[in-house]
Amino acid sequence: MAGGKLKVGVLISGRGTNLQALIDACADPGFPAVIELVVSNKADAFGLKRAADAGIPTAVIDHKAYRSRAAFDAAVDETLRAAGVGFVCLAGFMRILSGDFVERWRDRLINIHPSLLPAFKGLDTHQRAIDAGVTITGCTVHFVRPAMDDGPIIVQAAVPVLPGDDADRLAARILESEHAIYPLALRLIAEGRVRMTGEKTVRRDGVPSAGALINPSPD
Ligand code: GAR
Repeated sequence: MAGGKLKVGVLISGRGTNLQALIDACADPGFPAVIELVVSNKADAFGLKRAADAGIPTAVIDHKAYRSRAAFDAAVDETLRAAGVGFVCLAGFMRILSGDFVERWRDRLINIHPSLLPAFKGLDTHQRAIDAGVTITGCTVHFVRPAMDDGPIIVQAAVPVLPGDDADRLAARILESEHAIYPLALRLIAEGRVRMTGEKTVRRDGVPSAGALINPSPD
C-alpha cells in the first residue's frame, strides 16, 4: 500500500499524453493516487517510454497473440491484479473491452473520450464535430459501462470550435483540456468526493462551474 493511495493501472495503445498528465499529477506527493502499472496492447506505444522514464513498471499484452477478446481481457485482468491494482484508467486504449471485464471492474474503471458525451461516441470525433457544425465540443471522463463510450459522467470540459479549425487543430486544443480533467477526475474519485446515485455521479462537495461558455461570443 502506497500510504493509503489509490493504486492505479493505466491502459494505453499509443503516444500516452494523457498517461503523462496522470504521471505528472501523481508526482505531487499530495496526490491521492499512484500508478502501479502501465499496460499497452502495442509494443511500440510511446507511452511505454513515458512510464519507464517515470520508473513505473510496464507490461505489453499484444491482443494479436490471443485467440479471443475474452482471452486477451483475462490476461489484462490477471496482470492488473497481480500488480495490486485496484482502479483502472483507460488513456487512449483503443480496444473494446468485453462486458465481463467491464463488470468485473465496475465503478473502478474510467475512460477519457474527446467529445462532450453522449455526443460523438466512437472514432473521428473532431471531424464529425466540425462536420455537424457544433460551436462547442470538448472532452469527458466517465465510468466505463459495456456499451462503447457510455457510462456515468465524472468531469467534462467544453471547448469552442473556432473559425478555421480543422480536425488536428481542434484535437490539439481539446487535448489540453483532457490533460486538465483526467487528473482532476482521478483526484475527485480517489478522495471520495464523487458518489454514484443510480447511473449518475454527484460531487459531494465543491461548487460546480456555473458560468456558461457561449460560442460565438455575444460581444
Ligand atoms: C485522446 O484524445 C483520448 O481522448 C482518445 O485517444 C487519445 C489518446 O491520446 N481516446 C479515445 O478516443 C477513446 N474513445 P494520448 O495517447 O495522447 O493520451
